[in-house]
Amino acid sequence: MAKQKTIFACTNCGATSPKWIGKCPSCEEWNTYQEEVVFNQTTQESKLTSWKKAGKTIDPQPIELDNIAVGALNRIDTGDKEFNRVLGGGIVPGSLVLIGGQPGIGKSTLSLQVAMNIKAKVLYVTGEESEDQIKMRANRLGKTSGNCFILTEINTNKILNHAQQLQPDLIIIDSIQTISSPNIESMPGTVSQVRECTGELQRYSKETNTPVFIIGHITKDGAIAGPKLLEHIVDTVLQFEGERQYAYRILRTLKNRFGSTDELGIYEMQSGGLREVNNPSELLLTQRDDDLSGSSVCATLEGLRPMLIETQALVGTAIFGTPQRSSTGFELRRLHMLLAVLEKRCGIFFGQKDVFLNMAGGIKVADPAVDLGIVAALVSSLQDIAVNHEVCFAGEVGLSGEIRGVNRIEQRIAEADRLGFKQMFISKYNMKGFDKKRFNIQLNPISKITELMETLF
Ligand code: TYD
Ligand code: MG
Repeated sequence: MAKQKTIFACTNCGATSPKWIGKCPSCEEWNTYQEEVVFNQTTQESKLTSWKKAGKTIDPQPIELDNIAVGALNRIDTGDKEFNRVLGGGIVPGSLVLIGGQPGIGKSTLSLQVAMNIKAKVLYVTGEESEDQIKMRANRLGKTSGNCFILTEINTNKILNHAQQLQPDLIIIDSIQTISSPNIESMPGTVSQVRECTGELQRYSKETNTPVFIIGHITKDGAIAGPKLLEHIVDTVLQFEGERQYAYRILRTLKNRFGSTDELGIYEMQSGGLREVNNPSELLLTQRDDDLSGSSVCATLEGLRPMLIETQALVGTAIFGTPQRSSTGFELRRLHMLLAVLEKRCGIFFGQKDVFLNMAGGIKVADPAVDLGIVAALVSSLQDIAVNHEVCFAGEVGLSGEIRGVNRIEQRIAEADRLGFKQMFISKYNMKGFDKKRFNIQLNPISKITELMETLF
């Protein structure tokens, strides 16, 4: 029997050490070292089978850069517009895609849906659920595809053997934390196992030109569990996120070797699976008919997509000595800053008031262009004067009360115009460089926050 050896590996960055250490010298995190058993096999590499498909083998030779002919990548259409978009136009053959997300967010549902819709042979490997469970989920999703094979297996050697026999066009691994390689002795989900399994999948993928989707769990701090190394190995990292109480799910590209990382896909979780949302604004704005005080509409961007989102503020007299400030979907510190700007530059005082702020639909917004709308909502609630529901806002508020221009203003205006808004407040610095005549919406350029107050209230 091969000699047993234990090592300690950092669960954060994957660094290893022969003995336990409290602070990782590589990533400087504390208490991240875990003991792992490995077989000391120097011949491990040579034992691995080479997975080669006849005719599909790529045997790399040095080629002069100028002589490389770039053909169009034959991307595989997933049958899902949003998914194609985040991948940069479809699945690239031989690519490794990591799909991360919190438990229960819908990673398995999304992958199964892709497996069922795609016009290609798919091998869906699950180490988490039984065939019955998968079948039940597939029944919920409705459509059946004759080309989707389910394998409940956690041993990578067996998985790759099956793959070699079946020759699928796409392999989905659900999830990387549950499969294990017989080449090393550690438990599934440990740093060395995750690394080894990903390495084996990558080797198979590159040698046979088969794309592989790897589903990975996320730790409570939002990082994809297992070493960061995983993110370096794969070609594309997608993150599936959303609030569980809300039906919206956002598929974000964190890294993409074959496309832009600004793209994102929006889905709605329904009883029959995930539905693609092509018009996010229409969904987020459905619940407003009357003019209510404390509410306004901001034109924001998610990735590259313009989206109108409603923001609501409630300003009330504080009962306790220290007023409360609470914010959902928007950074609290930025809210404090906006309140300070309103006090200093407009003489509108929130000192003894409780302030609550909420971005509708459970969406988190980091775009500074929502500042202007938030300021309008705050003052509207304080003075109990409604903002007309046909007005929307896009502008960043600076510390001296100036309204700064924001990026991609034309797209924001176009989206507001398309949804029938009549008037839009933007920064005067955003008035240059586009054709205003093509919009029906009336643009109100302003340069100071006081101008907004004069016009609105
Ligand atoms: P799942 O894909 O199992 O999540 P993950 O693999 O990320 O852990 O999906 C989990 C949730 O989705 C589950 O709570 C039930 C819900 N769901 C629906 O609302 N509609 C559906 O059609 C399906 C299949 C699941
Ligand atoms: Mg799952």
